[in-house]
Amino acid sequence: MEAQEATAAIQADREYVLQTYAKPDFVIERGEGVYLYDTEGRRYLDFVAGIAVNALGYGDPDITRAITDQADKLIHLSNLYHSIPAGELARMLVEQTPGLDRVFFCNSGAEAIEGAIKFARRHARAHFGPEKTTIVAFDGSFHGRTMGAVAVTAREKYREPFMPVMPGVRFARYNDLESLREQMCTDVCAVLIEPVQGEGGLRSADPAFLQSARKLCDEFNALLIFDEIQSGVGRTGTLWAHEPSGVRPDLMTIAKPLAGGLPIGGILLTQNVADSIQAGDHGTTFGGNPLAAHVAATVFRKISDPAFLARVREVSSYLDESLADLQAEFPDTVLELRGCGLMRGIRIAGSAARVREIAQQQHVLIATAGDDVLRLVPPLIITSQHVDEAIEVLRKALS
Ligand SMILES: Cc1ncc(COP(=O)(O)O)c(C=O)c1O
Repeated sequence: MEAQEATAAIQADREYVLQTYAKPDFVIERGEGVYLYDTEGRRYLDFVAGIAVNALGYGDPDITRAITDQADKLIHLSNLYHSIPAGELARMLVEQTPGLDRVFFCNSGAEAIEGAIKFARRHARAHFGPEKTTIVAFDGSFHGRTMGAVAVTAREKYREPFMPVMPGVRFARYNDLESLREQMCTDVCAVLIEPVQGEGGLRSADPAFLQSARKLCDEFNALLIFDEIQSGVGRTGTLWAHEPSGVRPDLMTIAKPLAGGLPIGGILLTQNVADSIQAGDHGTTFGGNPLAAHVAATVFRKISDPAFLARVREVSSYLDESLADLQAEFPDTVLELRGCGLMRGIRIAGSAARVREIAQQQHVLIATAGDDVLRLVPPLIITSQHVDEAIEVLRKALS
């Protein structure tokens, strides 16, 4: 690509696209494996992965083949007719997720959250009457940008400019059972938890907290919803981040990596909740469309393979050790290591945006979560060499 084309692309963005995101002054043209290349041919090691989307990196031949094969047959159909891919994907998701029996497909994380809120309220109304409508969410939560999703998102900057948001939400402190207990009452229809918080700073839920939350939900006839939109599909080294806790939710939202970069979302639910939802209660034009569903089935088959997940755990342990070494080297700057698997946060003394900027100048892309947390969510196919490469640049950026 000519340099002028890159300049024109940046100009067009700045002139015509709504400026809700700050972007650097280069244009990414293509990706290969875990690297991205800009129009000048510069190579970047990608520890952002489209914000935890590109789990299989770039140019995975199975994804490319799935796209072309399905595009040849059928891209979109509508939910008025049966197609093969949605059923196939639903069966795989349910078979791999103990305790959850059905799936509703949609197109993004926020849309999955909206659906989960509606299903929880619908279920509560059907069984306990119209007063049981409250959702309890947590400090540090992030569930998306639509009106229901911002209502259950704690940070004021996402909510306040759009007031009034959906009523009927209370917040408890994350990992604080007493705080959750204080918010529980007969009006609560659901408790919504990210097993590992993404945008909110990469904190992980204690297994004991999830287990107690399950018990409290049962005590108050409330549903337990896990938001695994960022943490799910292998990111933490198990298929679902909540798995090691042994807790089974009533609903679970998924999205980001599922369709290899094509938009998709989903809500898994128990048969008990599904029984409260009637035909016509909810819908979406593109949900479960054959292209996204077929590609998602391909991605999910690869990631749910025990050997693939074992490799994720292996490289995660290497990343753990490398981050611990980094902390030992910079004890005054690296204040806390958070998250697990390949969903890691580094809380630092100072500006996370500044470290991200320096790393970017050294051709390593990392994300941030809030003002003081660096977020590492690389493709799940990284190797220990890629970890070394990223840590070396972080070392320079923190010096
Ligand atoms: C945990 C979590 N929930 C919901 C969302 C919203 O997803 P989307 O941006 O696809 O609407 C995100 C996105 O970052 C997320 O990390």
